[in-house]
Amino acid sequence: MKEEKSICCCCEEENQAELIAKINEVIEHYKNKEGSLIQVLHQAQNIYGYLPLEVQKLVADGLGKPVSEVSGVVSFYSFFSTQPRGKHTIRVCLGTACYVRGGKKLVDRLCDILDIKVGDTTADRQFTFEVARCIGACGLAPAMMIDDVVYKQVNPDKLNAILAKYKD
Ligand code: FES
Repeated sequence: MKEEKSICCCCEEENQAELIAKINEVIEHYKNKEGSLIQVLHQAQNIYGYLPLEVQKLVADGLGKPVSEVSGVVSFYSFFSTQPRGKHTIRVCLGTACYVRGGKKLVDRLCDILDIKVGDTTADRQFTFEVARCIGACGLAPAMMIDDVVYKQVNPDKLNAILAKYKD
């Protein structure tokens, strides 16, 4: 029989409060340091996982900056995300070498397997799926990365086995 996972909302709230407290500590640390906004946002994203508007407001208030300035910085840099991200990031290369050797087939198969589009995160927050433009393995195309690991000459039929290594 399958065991149902129950989610306790009190624990979630507690966890949330802890994360906010940690972000406040970071803000406090950088408060009077000139040009610290990006640093604070980086650390806030590491703590919270992403930068929703409520976190952006917290940072803006804490540093005495307009929310519009903070949001502008968040949307300018691609390493900041306003959406929750998966535990692992999959990047399929669609640079020229990978594209002509089947990179698009990897993308299509992964969309099927994960049941999401490029740029999205799976409902279980296990994977965020993105494409890249050359990850430095052109000689062994098509290539993809999961977090920091590069997979070369990837065959679409091997994708399930590769992903299985990253599932909890
Ligand atoms: S084009 Fe894909 S690794 Fe270079």
